[in-house]
This record gives sequence, C-alpha cells and structure tokens, in this order.
Amino acid sequence: MAKFTVGYVIGSLARESINRKLAKALVKLAPADFAMVEITWKDLPFYSYDFDKNYPKVAVDFKDAIHGADGILFITPEYNRSIPGALKNAIDWASRPYGKNAFDKKPAAVIGASIGAIGTAVAQQHLKGVLGYCNMRLMNSPEGYITFKPDLIADDGTVNVESTREFLRTYMQAFAAHIQRCAAAG
Ligand SMILES: Cc1cc2nc3c(=O)[nH]c(=O)nc-3n(C[C@H](O)[C@H](O)[C@H](O)COP(=O)(O)O)c2cc1C
Repeated sequence: MAKFTVGYVIGSLARESINRKLAKALVKLAPADFAMVEITWKDLPFYSYDFDKNYPKVAVDFKDAIHGADGILFITPEYNRSIPGALKNAIDWASRPYGKNAFDKKPAAVIGASIGAIGTAVAQQHLKGVLGYCNMRLMNSPEGYITFKPDLIADDGTVNVESTREFLRTYMQAFAAHIQRCAAAG
C-alpha cells in the first residue's frame, strides 16, 4: 500500500508540454511507496474574491485534491522569466478564501524543464516565493533545473540520459525524505 500520496501540478496547458513529459518521468522514478496523483486545474476560471462566499465546484474539487495529498510536486515551465499566469491563477484559488488556504503547512517541491540553458531557474525562484507566502514547507535542496533536449525524455516518460535519470530518481527520494521530516515535525 502507498505510504504517501503525492499530488503533482503541471504548470503548462500545452498539448506537447515538455513539463508533462518530465512529470511522466518523475512518476516512473518515484519511490515505490509514493502514489502519484495529478492535480489538474485547467478548468478553473480566473480567480476573484467575489467567489469567496460561494466557491465553484471545480475549485472546491481542486482544493480537496490538495488537502488529500501528503505533499505537492510542482513541475513548471518558465514563461518570460516567471511562472505561467494560468498556474498563478490556480495557486490563488487554492490559497483562498482567507483562512482556508489549502497549501498551509503542506510539504512541496519545485522542479521544471525549459529549452533554455538555465532550465526554469528564475521561474522556480518566483514560484518558491509564492509558495513560501502560502506557508508551504518547501524542499530547498536538491534543486532541479532541467534543460530539455528533444530526445531527453520519451513520450512514455523514459529518460534516455542515464545521469538525468539518476538525478531525477535521487530528487524524488529526497522529496520522500522531506515529506517524512515534515510529518515527524508536525
Ligand atoms: C510565453 C512563453 C515565454 C517563454 N519564456 C521563457 C523563459 O523565460 N525562459 C525559458 O527558458 N524558456 C521560455 N520559453 C520557452 C519554453 O521553455 C518552452 O516553450 C517550453 O516548451 C515550455 O514548457 P512547456 O512545453 O511545458 O509548456 C517561453 C515560452 C513561451 C510560450
């Protein structure tokens, strides 16, 4: 039986998303005691606090999925040196209404792939700032900046470069240890 349920949030809506490929690889390389569950957000409307008195079902379901996970893994692209606006909108939904922040004290890790040399480093710094404000328990190390080349990850999530495969496996093991530490600390 799975010891931890890990929700993963993919920051891209693109059909051919390289971050979705990275997510598939991470699911394959996750420790055996992880149940990996995608938390989707593409049907969320634009957030406004006008919704706070009556959250739509799609947003309630999104928050319930976050509540049900022992940890959240964000896998994000970098758009114009930040995170995609649509992902930020989803985070705003999860964080509200005031006092009902679904991310509160939840363990989190951030990783991402881009075609650029610094592999989403700037977007990840922005995202960590946002998630820190949402009081998530962030894994600081290791960091995962993936520069994507066309053959790096096959459509089924197989990582074709051994050093990257082993790095991603180690990254997921570190996230397991982080979730365990957070659980022990309460
Ligand atoms: C609007 C937009 C902005 C982008 N800005 C950056 C950027 O700041 N840094 C970067 O490395 N790549 C940038 N890219 C290229 C992305 O790395 C590339 O499109 C990648 O495939 C996005 O990930 P995804 O396929 O998972 O959506 C940008 C792409 C788009 C569409």
